[in-house]
Amino acid sequence: MARRWKNELTQADVTPQAAYMNRRQVMAGLAGLGLAGMARPADAAVLKPTNYEAITQYNNFYEFGTGKDDPAKNAHRLTTAPWTIRIDGMVERPGDYALEDILSKMTIEERIYRLRCVEGWSMVVPWNGFELKDLLDLAGVKADAKYVAMETLLRPEEMRGQRYPIIQWPYVEGLRLDEAMHPLTIMANGIYGKPIPNQNGAPLRLVVPWKYGFKSIKSVVRISLVDQEPPTSWNRALPNEYKFYSNVNPEVDHPRWSQATERPIGGGLLTKRQPTLMFNGYEKEVGALYEGMDLRKYF
Ligand code: MTE
Repeated sequence: MARRWKNELTQADVTPQAAYMNRRQVMAGLAGLGLAGMARPADAAVLKPTNYEAITQYNNFYEFGTGKDDPAKNAHRLTTAPWTIRIDGMVERPGDYALEDILSKMTIEERIYRLRCVEGWSMVVPWNGFELKDLLDLAGVKADAKYVAMETLLRPEEMRGQRYPIIQWPYVEGLRLDEAMHPLTIMANGIYGKPIPNQNGAPLRLVVPWKYGFKSIKSVVRISLVDQEPPTSWNRALPNEYKFYSNVNPEVDHPRWSQATERPIGGGLLTKRQPTLMFNGYEKEVGALYEGMDLRKYF
C-alpha cells in the first residue's frame, strides 16, 4: 500500500465554492498530493458533490441536540481553544498533547471521501487532516496494543445535549489497531480548506470513510491504546443494532431498515437514492483487513 493514498474522487467532483480556495490554491494543493492532472479512473463510482452549506448544516452531533439542524444552531457555544488531547494506555510517550503542537508536526492534506451515515444518507466531503497513524507514531504504540479507544469532550455547560441522558456521555468510539493505522483513516481539522466548523467536530475529529458515520467521533479529547475491544456509544445504547465494526455493507441490513441504498444530501428534494457500495466504495483499499471474517456476524 502506497504511503499516501490517492483520491478516487478528485477536485472535479466538488462543486466550485465561492467560499472555497481559488483555483490556483486548489491546483497547488493537488500538486502537493501528487494528484494534479490525475485522470479519474474510468471505473470509479463518481458521486454528486456535496456543497459546503449541506455539509455544515445537516449534521449528527447529539451533544448539541438530536435534530439535523441543532448542531449548526448550538455548536457555536463550544470553546475549542486551547485544546489538548490525552494520549494514554499502551504508548511509549503518554501525556496531554496540545493541539497546536500536534498540528505543527503533522502533514495536512486534502482527502475527498464519501461519508455514509447508518441512517441511510450520504455526502462527499473534502476534508483537511492528517493520518491517524502519524499521531499514533508520535506517541509510540507499544507492541501489545490491539485497539484504539477515543472519547469526545464532556462539557455540558457548552454542549447542551449532554444535559440529557440521550446516550451515556461522553461519546466513545474505537477501532482495531490495524484499522486505526490504515492510510485512509484520518483526523480532520478542516473542510473545504477552512477550519472545521464546531458542528462538524472541531477542532479535531476522526474520519473512517469505509465505516458508518457514527464511528467518526467528533471533538476528540482522549485517545487510549488498549488490548481489549473498547466500548462504543451506539453499541452500548442499542447492542443488537450496532456492533463494533460497523463497516458500510449494502448486503447486511440494519434490523429496522435496508442498507442497500442511500440518499445523497445537498442535491435537493428530487435527488434519487443511489446504491450503497461495499465498504462505502473503499473495498479495494480495506477489504484485506476483514479477510476470512463473517461480516454478517461482525457487522
Ligand atoms: N461524534 C459525536 N461526539 N457525537 C455524535 O453525535 N454523530 C456521528 C458522527 N460522530 C456523532 C459523532 C454520526 S451518526 C455521524 S453520521 C457523523 O458524526 C456525522 O458527521 P457530520 O455531521 O460531520 O456529517
